[in-house]
Amino acid sequence: MTKAQFQVFASARAAAKAAAAHIADMVRARPQTVLGLATGKTFVPVYAALVELARERGLSFAQASSFNLDEYVGLPAGHPASFRRYMEENFFRHVDLPPDRALLPEAGGDAATACLAYEQAIAARGGIDVQLLGIGRNGHIGFNEPGSAFDGRTQVADLTPSTIAANTSDFPPGEVPPPQAITMGIGTILEAREIVLVATGDGKAEALARSFRDKPNTDCPGSALQSHGHVTVFCDDAAYAGLKG
Ligand code: F6R
Repeated sequence: MTKAQFQVFASARAAAKAAAAHIADMVRARPQTVLGLATGKTFVPVYAALVELARERGLSFAQASSFNLDEYVGLPAGHPASFRRYMEENFFRHVDLPPDRALLPEAGGDAATACLAYEQAIAARGGIDVQLLGIGRNGHIGFNEPGSAFDGRTQVADLTPSTIAANTSDFPPGEVPPPQAITMGIGTILEAREIVLVATGDGKAEALARSFRDKPNTDCPGSALQSHGHVTVFCDDAAYAGLKG
């Protein structure tokens, strides 16, 4: 059985607020915290809660830095569905995190160069202190889809049809997500000193159960987290359903 700690809440909103409060505590205790950030629907209320803490409680990110997990390959800068745009709208433009220290993979140019540069930038900052993660219905973490190696580094990944379908609603009508993204690899993710996974809704129950109940297996990328010594899962009752009892 996994060493991960579970914090289970009655609602998705409560789980998101608790995850945000945990991150805020870390940043207050160590203002230079290196954050690993995630996008997706799960994190909209997490960033909203962090922005509220910044506005109302003076939480400052002025000395922090951040690295996002992933970015689509080939979307023009400023595309409404790019993860850069998501981060600007949900978080960056509302807080004092210095823009030159808020990084996402550079998915517009040569991908191999961008992947290596991203790994080097993370190392130059001393590694990631806390990595925020969501999880896909198929168990993906970042864009590491089933079958990804547990020691993978930042790389170009092919998205599965189910991930493309799940993310199509983020795109303007008539557009679909690009077939590829640059993502931190599972090996990169596991090097973070702490991991905070947020999972809400019954659509995530099976992925959470396969990640933490079953033996680690590359068919479920989330199960790689069982080998990490400091994982906290913030979830609601619905997502926890498959792990009960
Ligand atoms: C996002 C990411 C993905 C999402 C996952 C869940 O940066 O890397 O792994 O965390 O697809 O997405 P939502 O929260 O939209 O269900």
